[in-house]
Amino acid sequence: MENLQELIESADTLQTLEVARIEIFGKKGILAAEFAKMKSVPNEEKKEFAKNLNIEKAKLTGLFDAKKSLLQEAALSESMKKDGVDVTLFNSYNESGALHPVNETMNKIIDYFVSMNFSIEEERLVEDDFHNFEALNLPKYHPARDMQDTFYMNDDYVLRTHTSPVQIRTMMNKKVKPPIRMISPGSVFRRDFDVTHTPMFHQVEGLVVDDEGKVSFAHLKFILEDFLHYMFGNEIEIRFRPSYFPFTEPSAEVDISCVFCEGKGCRICSHTGWLEVLGSGMVDPNVFKAVGYENVSGYAFGFGVERFAMLIHRIPDLRSLFEADLRLLEQFR
Ligand code: PHE
Repeated sequence: MENLQELIESADTLQTLEVARIEIFGKKGILAAEFAKMKSVPNEEKKEFAKNLNIEKAKLTGLFDAKKSLLQEAALSESMKKDGVDVTLFNSYNESGALHPVNETMNKIIDYFVSMNFSIEEERLVEDDFHNFEALNLPKYHPARDMQDTFYMNDDYVLRTHTSPVQIRTMMNKKVKPPIRMISPGSVFRRDFDVTHTPMFHQVEGLVVDDEGKVSFAHLKFILEDFLHYMFGNEIEIRFRPSYFPFTEPSAEVDISCVFCEGKGCRICSHTGWLEVLGSGMVDPNVFKAVGYENVSGYAFGFGVERFAMLIHRIPDLRSLFEADLRLLEQFR
């Protein structure tokens, strides 16, 4: 049995040890053959024969187990050396996040109006017909409702189509009295989806009401011009264009000279040289009537934040702001 010990000891890999195991301990192995000889051993010697054989088997098993764990350990440390990661090596993977361009633009807008002493009002996203339409001088079946075809929860509740209902909620809030100077940032919803529209987007509403009736269109014009220069730089041109909103009278849409072609005319400004960025006007007397205000004057304005972000960062497709594509977002780090 000397050579069997030899066989185990000389194995230098787990594979050769396995070959030895089968040869020695296998069903058709050497030990099995030895035990088979029992049959031909005379009865009185059987006991002694079996005892010796079992001692031998135990010795070989112990030897085998020891050898096996030795080889396993060696294999493990070998593979650790080969596949190991050196955690002390310099790591250049260092990705910090960034504000989403819509948030960044929103923050810039809020900073401006806070610096001008406007308060910030936030309100609900599910609005009732009265606040979203009726009180804003948009009676049922008014054709202007079509401009803002929206998501109806049922006949009485809609996902708000604009932030203008916050004008109504602020003025009807018993704790608020004129003078009012507020902006209201938040998300709004419309059934649109194309390069310049997504079904959810963000607006900022502005409302200024003076209890002495002294607020005029001149004040509105000043604040919006100052604000737009702050957002887009002093180089841009600004124009006020007569327009229509049910809740303001007179109303104006505000354009800036195209930031892409500097007013020369390009595809993005439809070759007009101008980009529409804002709706505004003096608060319509019917709105004041709806909220129970008398002897006041005021102005209001509203605009989309994504549109601002798009123009500031030259983003060609507004929908890409909501696709969570890292190739876009990484650029704002
Ligand atoms: N609510 C209007 C819109 O969503 C914008 C607006 C607000 C216009 C306030 C005038 C005054 O288009």
